[in-house]
Amino acid sequence: MPDHGPEPVPTSWWRDAAIYQVYLRSFADADGDGIGDLAGVRARLGHLDDLGVDAIWLNPWYPSPMADAGYDVADYRDIEPVFGTLAEAEKVIAEAHDLGIRVIIDLVPNHCSDAHPWFAQALAAGPGSPERELFWFRPGRGPGGDEPPTDWASNFGGPAWTRVREPDGRPGEWYLHLFTPQQPDLNWDHPLVRAEFEDILRFWLDRGIDGFRIDVADALVKESTLPDLVACAAGDVPYHDRDGVHDIYREWRRITDEYPGERVFVGEMWLPDPDRLARYLRPDELHCAFNFEFLRAPWEAAALRAVIDATIAAHSPVGAAPTWVLSNHDVTRHVTRYGRADTSFDFGHRQHGVPSDRELGTRRARAAALLSLALPGGVYVYQGEELGLWEVEDIPDDLRQDPVWERSAHTDRGRDGCRVPLPWAGTAPPFGFSPVPAAPPWLPQPPEWASHTVQAQDGDPGSMLELYRAALRIRRAHPALGDGGLRWASPDPGPGVLCFTRDPGFTCVVNLSGSPVGLPPHESVLLTSSAPVGEALDGGLLPPDAAVWLRTTR
Ligand code: NOJ
Repeated sequence: MPDHGPEPVPTSWWRDAAIYQVYLRSFADADGDGIGDLAGVRARLGHLDDLGVDAIWLNPWYPSPMADAGYDVADYRDIEPVFGTLAEAEKVIAEAHDLGIRVIIDLVPNHCSDAHPWFAQALAAGPGSPERELFWFRPGRGPGGDEPPTDWASNFGGPAWTRVREPDGRPGEWYLHLFTPQQPDLNWDHPLVRAEFEDILRFWLDRGIDGFRIDVADALVKESTLPDLVACAAGDVPYHDRDGVHDIYREWRRITDEYPGERVFVGEMWLPDPDRLARYLRPDELHCAFNFEFLRAPWEAAALRAVIDATIAAHSPVGAAPTWVLSNHDVTRHVTRYGRADTSFDFGHRQHGVPSDRELGTRRARAAALLSLALPGGVYVYQGEELGLWEVEDIPDDLRQDPVWERSAHTDRGRDGCRVPLPWAGTAPPFGFSPVPAAPPWLPQPPEWASHTVQAQDGDPGSMLELYRAALRIRRAHPALGDGGLRWASPDPGPGVLCFTRDPGFTCVVNLSGSPVGLPPHESVLLTSSAPVGEALDGGLLPPDAAVWLRTTR
């Protein structure tokens, strides 16, 4: 690992890494305040080691007023006191490294917090000041400047502009925020912003961080004329995926490349066009990016195959490895998605409260795990998916924390349901998340999670946890898995069935049809989602909504 011993031989580790997302607030609480913390992460690193992941990605850990769960950063070079201290963060890095687990942190460059000193200075300095140039301050339109400067909407509802009161007390300029008003967008045309973030990168790289997940990586650069959306061509969004953003990543890549130990960037870009996504993955830019089209796809063979093919086709010309993502802290957990009539995901239509068959969703989630872990490239596991957790949809409205709920005027219940603290052990909340006695978990856990704790699943071959452990173990050892290519079976096994081979000697079959299917010729079954780990397939047939890994003739 980077800060221990001699520099190892480069492995391009990210090309096939299994990266576990630690949502810090909800992973493990060591100090009993009901909120996860770094001491909790340290205490539970053993779980990640047993699971067999290669790296963790931690959501933002910086000092923050938490207007958007830490994506409103007040100081990029320190740790939020609720989570711990810088010294504790250094221990997390060192102890993870001792277990061979790399550490990726979240970098939030598009916006900071309104509590960041830069923003406070900009407000105080007034219109026309150099301090305001670090952000997007503009006069309003209409009589008295009462209307926002453009027609841009915030991603969380409402306009993307908020009007400030000037130092003399009068209503004044407006500033841009693509998310909440507490998250002012930084002006990336400004050299000071660029220099600041290059320094922040070095600050953490010097502390042994293995990489950065870049928040809304495609939004940093805005069309500087700030045109109205109605004036733009369809699909041309003046604050998304502008060509100029690539220059920033080329500069950043030069920095990580200076450091020993293969430090990486993972881009968060929700781009429906895989070719646009792949432009960020050119050899001198980011190392990898989340494949959200895979996450968004419905549980249908043709749709999944189309996404897999388009992903591989777009990544290969730039020499990048694809990634496979099923869930994260922004989307409905896939056990719940896959149990609904409409199994796709769309931010605009989260389907909160739409009935979901949990048993069906769980069966499909098990199959989806084997599919994503068999595909070529890297894979992300969102905390709790290894326990088969579902979206918690009955959080009382007065306990909701996600700003989306308020910003959408209570039309969108937001993302709290996938952020509920993890159940570790025991038969009642807080399920080992906090020591007892403690403040209640920051979001209430469902009592039914008693059967889904790590303790309850540990050693149970029929559990989701043991399926993930077995799959990750096989994936790590098998020469065909991880980086590489795949071949679809020929002849095609028929509608509703995905079947691909990877060399040497591996075949994955996923049955999304309504009836059992026979298996292609094989030597043995390595693992199936339809039976407990170590057990054979019932009758040698693969039931619906199941996947199997086969050892095949080389
Ligand atoms: C994407 C993050 O994943 C999400 O949680 C956050 O609200 C927005 N970016 C804004 O930072």
